[in-house]
Amino acid sequence: MRLKGKDVLGLENMTSEEIRLILETARPMKDIIGRDIKKVPTLRGKSIVNLFFEPSTRTRSSFELAGKYMGGDVINISTSTSSVVKGESLRDTVLTMEAMGIDIIVVRHAAEGAAHYIAQNVKAAVINAGDGTHEHPTQGLLDMFTIQEHKGEIAGLKVVIVGDILHSRVARSNIWGLNKFGADVHVVGPSTLMPPAIEKMGVTVHHRVEEALEGADVVNILRIQRERQQKGLFPTSREYARIFGINQNRLALANPDVLIMHPGPMNRGLEIASDVAYDERSAIVEQVTNGVAVRMALLYLLTGGGNIEITA
Ligand code: CP
Repeated sequence: MRLKGKDVLGLENMTSEEIRLILETARPMKDIIGRDIKKVPTLRGKSIVNLFFEPSTRTRSSFELAGKYMGGDVINISTSTSSVVKGESLRDTVLTMEAMGIDIIVVRHAAEGAAHYIAQNVKAAVINAGDGTHEHPTQGLLDMFTIQEHKGEIAGLKVVIVGDILHSRVARSNIWGLNKFGADVHVVGPSTLMPPAIEKMGVTVHHRVEEALEGADVVNILRIQRERQQKGLFPTSREYARIFGINQNRLALANPDVLIMHPGPMNRGLEIASDVAYDERSAIVEQVTNGVAVRMALLYLLTGGGNIEITA
């Protein structure tokens, strides 16, 4: 089996079979990351550009490492180092990249739909690395991979997503993907940070975190996105931490073997207490490793890979 389209733009329109293929392909990729010599020739002769118009630590560097571990050529362009600051349009920027022979464009942009727009204008494969508040499919995939590693089956698990749902592309990609795999997805946060009609996505909505955490198998704690906040969505950081912050007392309401997740970067002391972030049930550091594996899988599959044959 292969991926159907040339691009990975979101989990909303991806089939469960495609998601399963990506997660299965990521497993042998993770073995490569664990090797002493992390290098396979799978992407030799292929070139990838990371085009980041918003800040990133994890996503940008994990795409770069994923490409390099597989022998591809990777270049990085950010807003401040691109001709966008001289007035070049997004379309002209990507056409310029394509004219240089780029095979895969990885793009992060503040505008919802930016990755779709690029995908319509180039022959190269496009991977959405986060478009505004819309989707962050590779984060959704790496979260699903992490849950599978710890819990086996995703179907039937109570997964609670906590916090700033309104601005969260991570929440949206998780909801689309987890629902396709039969999870029981709950969201909780202040009503000012809850999108209208979110229940239509197939989630149970709560406004009291204690109620949501009852019997949770997985808790995925979202970052408060200060850069996207308008004034007045919650009174103060201290107030948010007091009412919605995940601390050990609240965590005790979840199942004893609850899996603690956070996409990063964390605001410790705000949405997550330090001792929760470093709890032995926390998979937060592992999520980062899994991000490289999932991105390796995607690069492989988008360059024509099907069944997995990774040579040393
Ligand atoms: N989770 C995530 O997207 O992190 P970065 O912003 O560091 O890429």
